[in-house]
Amino acid sequence: MKITMIGSGYVGLVSGVCLAEYGHDIVCMDKDVAKIEGLRAGKMPIFEPGLEEMVRDNVKAGRLTFSTDMADCVPDSEVVFIGVGTPTNKETGHADLKYVYAVAEEIARHVKDFTVVVTKSTVPVGTGDEVERIIARTNPKADVAVVSNPEFLREGAAIKDFMIPNRIVVGLEDQRARPVMTEVYRPLFINQAPLMITTRRTSELIKYAANAFLAMKITYINEMADLCEAVGANVQEVARGIGLDNRIGTKFLHAGPGYGGSCFPKDTLALVKTAQDYDAPTQLVEATVAVNEARKAKMATKVIKAAGGSVAGKTITVLGLTFKPETDDMRDSPAIVIIEELVKAGATIRGYDPEGMENARAVLPPITYCDGPYQAAEGADAVVIVTEWNEFRALDLKRIKVAVKTPLLVDLRNIYRRDEVARHGFRYICVGRPGEEITA
Ligand SMILES: NC(=O)c1ccc[n+]([C@@H]2O[C@H](COP(=O)([O-])OP(=O)(O)OC[C@H]3O[C@@H](n4cnc5c(N)ncnc54)[C@H](O)[C@@H]3O)[C@@H](O)[C@H]2O)c1
Repeated sequence: MKITMIGSGYVGLVSGVCLAEYGHDIVCMDKDVAKIEGLRAGKMPIFEPGLEEMVRDNVKAGRLTFSTDMADCVPDSEVVFIGVGTPTNKETGHADLKYVYAVAEEIARHVKDFTVVVTKSTVPVGTGDEVERIIARTNPKADVAVVSNPEFLREGAAIKDFMIPNRIVVGLEDQRARPVMTEVYRPLFINQAPLMITTRRTSELIKYAANAFLAMKITYINEMADLCEAVGANVQEVARGIGLDNRIGTKFLHAGPGYGGSCFPKDTLALVKTAQDYDAPTQLVEATVAVNEARKAKMATKVIKAAGGSVAGKTITVLGLTFKPETDDMRDSPAIVIIEELVKAGATIRGYDPEGMENARAVLPPITYCDGPYQAAEGADAVVIVTEWNEFRALDLKRIKVAVKTPLLVDLRNIYRRDEVARHGFRYICVGRPGEEITA
């Protein structure tokens, strides 16, 4: 099938290359000229494991090309996906749909024959209706079916998630789109991925309901971690003890510094706003948003407390800047608030991240970027693990001990065993596992 993917970011590029891998003829289109020129030269605009090889192979096989102009690709496409960003509108908290609507208008100008227009971006309920109206208004002759097909991939495991999804959700009103969408995903459900076809509004809501539920699960275990610290219980064991109940499940029960990233913060907020607009408030999600927001600053307070009540004039090493491992995405990373708060309290920050430092420079206050964890630890009054990259799971603690000024490890991801760290002469502070103030 001939398919255009509009927006070649984390979702558009991964979805495009995966569909190409399955044999479709894909054009990944983006208005960002530098991004497209880079892709044509084999340079990936994002870090995602396995992406570069897959792009290279599919370009070589002639199934994947890149464009900055819809006129090149939309007229010949049977399916046009919209995969542009839907960030938070900073004034209202709603999802900002200006990119989606601008794309809808431009698609309308370029469609030729019957075309299925698919919103893959995460968009609030009713956006499909508006996209349909925009296209009809811009080009009354356009023959389109507007479909919702939210994406559930996770950064860091995006290719696997797209290729072997738990489910594919398609929301449609115009039945002509059904066989077309079935054909787009045929190679995936040969692998047994359930294809769920529903109405457009239901499909739009499924995406937000899923993300809000996961965000709530993380926030729940984070609150349990605080309670564990207060009552002298171990949150990792509480998580295991509840997670083994398969009505609950073990995933998304890792206590930490609060969720971040390009999806959960903006999607929970957008869901809250939609629910308020429809006079059907979601109090659980509202509480999740508030608790998570407060948590990031609370983690900075935890570091300050661990450092003896003040970090003024002290050097703090931050390991891990991205919102999670295996991505270079810094959007809404907890590290941002934690570092801002520590800087405000007078600390000097030495930071290191395996993939995120380029993006970090754009969003963090001035810090010293280092070449690796050991260089970052030099002269530190505390080493703080914010993101659990594999590289930080087996640090040479002997080497860290030699580098630091004060042997204090604050592990906001609970990736170390207390006795192991203490054996190397560190004070160890973690999340929801009290009794950690062991001094060797
Ligand atoms: N990142 C994720 O893990 C993830 C997962 C599931 C769903 N989503 C959703 O997918 C959507 C895209 O997210 P992303 O992370 O890929 O964003 P992104 O910022 O990485 O990519 C968006 C791309 O769209 C391009 N763009 C914007 N306006 C355009 C236009 N008029 N014409 C052509 N291109 C245009 C931008 O240049 C950019 O390259 C969002 O709605 C997001 O919520 C993201």
